[in-house]
Amino acid sequence: MTAQTYVPEPDLGTPAGRGTETVRVTVDGRTVDVPAGTSVLRAAAEAGVNVPKLCATDSLKAFGSCRMCLVEVDGVRGTPASCTTPCTDDMVVTTRSDELARLRRGVMELYLTDHPADCAGCARGNCEMQALATTVGVAEVRYPRREPARQHTPYDESNPYFAYDPAACIVCSRCVRACGETQGTFALTIAGRGIESVVSPGGTDFLSSECVSCGACVQACPTSALTEKSVVQLGMPTRAVNTTCAYCGVGCSFRAEVQGEGDDTRVVRMVPSKTGGANEGHSCVKGRFAYGYTHHPDRQLHPMVRDRIEDEWRVVSWQEAITKVASGFTAIQAEYGIGAIGGISSSRCTNEEVYVVQQLVRAGFGNNNVDTCARVCHSPTGYGLKQTFGTSAGTQDFASVADADVILLIGANPTDAHPVFASRMKRRLRAGARLIVADPRRIDLIRSPYVQAAYHLALQPGTNVAFVNAMAHVAVTEGLYDEAFLRERCENVDGYLAFIADPQHSPEAVESVTGIPAPTLREAARLYAAAGNAAIYYGLGVTEHSQGSTMVMGMANLAMVTGNIGRRGVGVNPLRGQNNVQGSCDMGSFPHELPGYRHISSDDVRAIYEQRWGRVLDPEPGLRIPNMFDSALAGTFRGVYIQGEDLAQSDPNTQHVEAALRAMDLVVVQDLFLNETARLAHVFLPGTSFLEKDGTFTNAERRINRVRPVFRPRQGMDEWQITCEIAQAMGYPMHYANAAEIMDEIAATTPTFAGVSFAALDAEGSMQWPVTAAAPHGTPTMHVDGFVRGKGLLVETVYVPTTERSNRRFPLILTTGRVLTQYNVGSQTRRTDNNVWHREDILEIHPADAEMRGISTGDLVELCSRVGSTTLRANVSSRMPPGVVYTTFHYPVTGANVVTTENSDWATNCPEYKVTAVQVGVANARGETDLEAERRRAGAAYAAAP
Ligand code: SF4
Ligand code: SF4
Ligand code: SF4
Ligand code: FES
Repeated sequence: MTAQTYVPEPDLGTPAGRGTETVRVTVDGRTVDVPAGTSVLRAAAEAGVNVPKLCATDSLKAFGSCRMCLVEVDGVRGTPASCTTPCTDDMVVTTRSDELARLRRGVMELYLTDHPADCAGCARGNCEMQALATTVGVAEVRYPRREPARQHTPYDESNPYFAYDPAACIVCSRCVRACGETQGTFALTIAGRGIESVVSPGGTDFLSSECVSCGACVQACPTSALTEKSVVQLGMPTRAVNTTCAYCGVGCSFRAEVQGEGDDTRVVRMVPSKTGGANEGHSCVKGRFAYGYTHHPDRQLHPMVRDRIEDEWRVVSWQEAITKVASGFTAIQAEYGIGAIGGISSSRCTNEEVYVVQQLVRAGFGNNNVDTCARVCHSPTGYGLKQTFGTSAGTQDFASVADADVILLIGANPTDAHPVFASRMKRRLRAGARLIVADPRRIDLIRSPYVQAAYHLALQPGTNVAFVNAMAHVAVTEGLYDEAFLRERCENVDGYLAFIADPQHSPEAVESVTGIPAPTLREAARLYAAAGNAAIYYGLGVTEHSQGSTMVMGMANLAMVTGNIGRRGVGVNPLRGQNNVQGSCDMGSFPHELPGYRHISSDDVRAIYEQRWGRVLDPEPGLRIPNMFDSALAGTFRGVYIQGEDLAQSDPNTQHVEAALRAMDLVVVQDLFLNETARLAHVFLPGTSFLEKDGTFTNAERRINRVRPVFRPRQGMDEWQITCEIAQAMGYPMHYANAAEIMDEIAATTPTFAGVSFAALDAEGSMQWPVTAAAPHGTPTMHVDGFVRGKGLLVETVYVPTTERSNRRFPLILTTGRVLTQYNVGSQTRRTDNNVWHREDILEIHPADAEMRGISTGDLVELCSRVGSTTLRANVSSRMPPGVVYTTFHYPVTGANVVTTENSDWATNCPEYKVTAVQVGVANARGETDLEAERRRAGAAYAAAP
C-alpha cells in the first residue's frame, strides 16, 4: 500500500506558464527558470518561496482581487500583485519586507472584519484564511467587526455532499471561477456589490440550481464556506492514498484522503489529483462523492451457495465455496465436454484481475470461452480500429483536444457520461473551436453557457454509416481531401475514392435516410474537412448498432481522407464506457484474442503463453457471450463464472438472458452485491470495491493508472486470488504473490506493455500504451509516422439498413443512454446519495408523439417492443426528435433491456441497443397499460411486463 502522512497537494498559485521560451527570475535571492508567461507568484513557489495569497489557486487563472500576494520588483514602482504579474527575464523580486508585511496585515485585517470570529467553531481544519492570518501576523483585528448580509444568508445544506455557509465566505470568487473555468457549468455568480456581495447559485439553493455537483468549487474554496459534509462529520484526513476512479473510462486520478488504519480506515473525502494525466485536478459527482456504496449494508461480505436457484442462500467458508465451484465445473466438463463452461471478465475490475480470469479459462478450463462486457459496448471499436489503423484503441490523449479546431462528436453525450472530458472539451470550445454534434437527441453540449454547436445533425437512429459516408463524399468530391496523406500513408486509396465518390453517398442521396438536410450536412462536412485540426470523438451511439464496426471504420476513413491522424488535435477517439473497458480488452478477454489483441490461432503467440502457463492452448476461438446464452439454451453450455458483470440487467433481451442462465447447472457470480444475475446463481463470491483493489485500470486514452488499496479487502480476499484458488481447486496450479507480479507477467508477454510495471507507474504517475523500448514513457499520440498496421486501410463501408424498423405496431424508435448521476446498471450509484438527482428511469418523448398518445410529463407509460415490455414514467421533451424516444437502464425495476432486441453488430455481436422499434402508451387506471389491456382483449401472447 502506498500511503503517506496527510500533506495537501501543493498549490503553486497560478497555472503553469505555457510559453516555449524560458525566463530567469530571482526571488528573495533564489534563481529559477520558468516558461515565459509564468506569474511571479508561481515562479516564487517553484523557487520554494511561499507568497501569501487568497484569491489565487493554481487551477484557475489569476484574478488579482485580494491584494494579499503583493511583492516588490526591482525597477518597478509600487507593490504589484504577484499573481497577475508575469515574469520577465532577469526580474528580481522581493517577497518579504516590512512594508509588504504591513500591507498584508492590513489586507488580512479588512478580511477579518467581515468574517466570523469563531475559528474554533469552524468545521474545516485546513482553512487557508485562518492559516494565513497567522502567517501574516494578525492576531486580532483593530477595526470594528462588520456584519455583511451574507452573515445572515441561510446555511445551504441542500446538496447531499457539501454545504455552503455564506457567513464564512470572503468573496474571493474562487468557487465562481472554478465552476466556470474548470467545470464549465457557470452555476455560480457573485450577487450584490461591495459588502453586500454574496456567492449565489442562481438565486436558489445548490440542489435546485444548475450545479452538477462536481465539487470543483468546494475544492477551490479557501475557507469553510464550501465544505464537504464528510469533513464536517469526520474531521480532517490524516493520510492520503493515490488511486483511480472506478466509474467511467475517463480514468480520473484521486487522492483518497482518509482517517484511521487497517479495518478502521474511513474515507474522509476523495480529492482529484492535480497531477492526474486524465483529469488534472478535476472530477465529477460520481468520482468525488459517490463512493459510499463500498460500505453500504447491501454489500455482501461472505461466500454463499445453494443447490437450486429457488433455495435460500447458505453462507459458507471461502474453502467450501471454492470447492463447490471447482467440483461443479469439473463435473460439467466430465459430462458435457471441455467447452461446456466459460468465464466472463469485468471492465470494472483491474487489468490484473481480468488477466487471471482469461488465464483461468484458457489454461484452467482448457477452452477459449472467455468474453467481457465490452462485447455489449465497444467491441466494434476494437474491431474497426484494428482493421483500419492496426490497433484497437483511440489515437490521442485527452489533452489533445486543446489543439482541435473542429470537434466532430458522434453518438456521445460527454457531459453526462464522461463529464471531466466534457469540461476539457468545453474549455476548448469556449476558446473558439467549432463543434459538430451528430446525435438524434439534443444533448446539453449543443447549447450550454458560452458553448454553441455549429451544427446539430439530428440523424435517424441506425443511419450512422450513411451519414459518415456522406461526410467523406463531400470531402472527396469537393477536393477537400488530403491526397498526399492518402498516397503516402494509406492503402486501397483508388478503390475507396471511387467508392465514396459515387453519387449514392451524396448528402442529397442519403437525406431521406438520415433525416439530415443535405445542405446542412454539406456545410458540416466542409467545416470538418477544411479544419486545420479536426478530431472525432464518439460513444456508444456509434458502436451499439448492427453496423457498429462499419461505422467505426467509416470514421477512420473520414479521418484518413482528410489527413486528420498522427498529430495532436486530431484523431478518432472512443469515449469508453466503464473504467477499465480498454484494459479488459487489452488483457485478452475476447474469445479469439490473447492479451495485446493477438489472435489465438497464432502458433507463435500461443507458444508464449503455453510456455508460461504450462498448458497447451486451444487454437480455436471460443464462445462469445451471446453464443454462450444460445448454447446454454441448446443444452451444450452448462456453467459460467461471471466476475463483476450483471448480465441479467445489462444485456439485451432480458428474458432470453434469464432463460439461458436458468438453463445452466452452475452459475457463479462474483460481485459486490446480490445483483439481478445473482438471483439466478448457485454460488456467490463476494468481490472487492476499488478502495480495496491493488492493480491498474486503463482508461479511454490507453492510460494505465494505478489503483491502490485504501483498506484491506473487506471480504477477506483479493479478487485475483479468488480466481487463482478456483484454478488450483480444479487442478491447475496458478500462483501469484501479488498484483505486481501479475503485471510483470503481462509486461513480459505483451509487447505493448513491455515497459509497464508497478514501479514504473509509481515513478511516472501513469503511462499510455504502447510502452516499449522505443517509447519508455508511453505514447500519447498514435500513428505519428506510420500506422501500426503499416498503411492505414481504407475500407469500403457499405451502408446496410438495420432490420429493426419502425412499423405500424411499433412506430417509434427507442434509443438508450445514461444520466450524469447514475452509472450503468446503477449497482454502485443507486447505493449512494446520487439518488437525490435520479430516482428512476424516465422515458423522454417528443411533444408531438406524446400528444398523439395523450401522454403528459409524469404519466406512467408502457414501453413495448417485439420482445418485451416495461413500465416507466414519461418526460415530454423537445430534446427528442419526433419518432424517437429515449431512456436509461440504471434501475432493475424498469429493466429497460427487457425491450431491447438481440439484433447486433455484424462483426462483433455488440447489441443494437440504440435502435429498437417500440410503442408507448399510457398505463390505464387499473395499473394495466393500454397495450396490456389491448393484448388481453385480443388474447395475444405477449411477454408480461415485469
Ligand atoms: S459543484 Fe461544480 S457545478 Fe456545482 S457550483 Fe460547484 S463547481 Fe459549479
Ligand atoms: S464560497 Fe469560498 S471560494 Fe467562494 S467566494 Fe466564498 S470563500 Fe471564496
Ligand atoms: S469523469 Fe469518470 S473517471 Fe472522472 S470522476 Fe467522473 S466518473 Fe470518475
Ligand atoms: S492572490 Fe494575488 S491578488 Fe489575490
